[in-house]
Amino acid sequence: MLFVNLKTYQQGTGVDAINLVRILESVAHEAQVKIIPVVQASDVREISSFSKLEIWVQHVDWVEYGAHTGFILPEAVFEDGAIGTFLNHSEHKFKDFKELEKAHQRATNVGLKTLVFAADLEELRKLIYLKPTYIAYEPPDLIGSKTISVAQAKLEIINKVVKITNLHDVPFIVGAGIRSAQDVRKSLGSGAVGVAVSSDVVTAKDPRKEILDLVEGFR
Ligand code: G3P
Repeated sequence: MLFVNLKTYQQGTGVDAINLVRILESVAHEAQVKIIPVVQASDVREISSFSKLEIWVQHVDWVEYGAHTGFILPEAVFEDGAIGTFLNHSEHKFKDFKELEKAHQRATNVGLKTLVFAADLEELRKLIYLKPTYIAYEPPDLIGSKTISVAQAKLEIINKVVKITNLHDVPFIVGAGIRSAQDVRKSLGSGAVGVAVSSDVVTAKDPRKEILDLVEGFR
């Protein structure tokens, strides 16, 4: 499975979120690879109204119905059509573990699947006890890298991640700097069930070309 995080820098490329999801959907269909667009909360309703792909949201908060200005209520994105949510992405951390734990509980209770990010082994060892739908290993220093991917630079750590995730029976995803079929192949070969990508696709002049290359790694 291929999570494509539609970070906000996509605007510069001329392909907006709607059109990018249309491209992802046609490639998913052609290649028969599960592609999951991960979008901003404000785009969930519109995108899930036309796309048959699983649409995920980039973040939800821990809040309940009540006086909470500007927070993302898990119920709201679920009702808009989100199937799952990222949590603890290194670009959107919670104040502390308690808040993350509560947000994870809230997301799960409303029926959202969850993918929780860990930046290193220490964090992963702690977060695995949340029993998320997926856990991701994503070293922040390689996010957005154009030259080196997690699959190239962190194979030793990935091998340790596999041991932990297997022990706890939580499928794991790998991400950061992924930009080729070879990166995908290496990640899957190491035991990951999928990858998370962003800049390679979202900032591309020709996103279809990039995504077609990435899905080759699943063959
Ligand atoms: O959520 C995945 C994302 O953080 C990876 O970003 O640009 O390194 O593919 P990128």
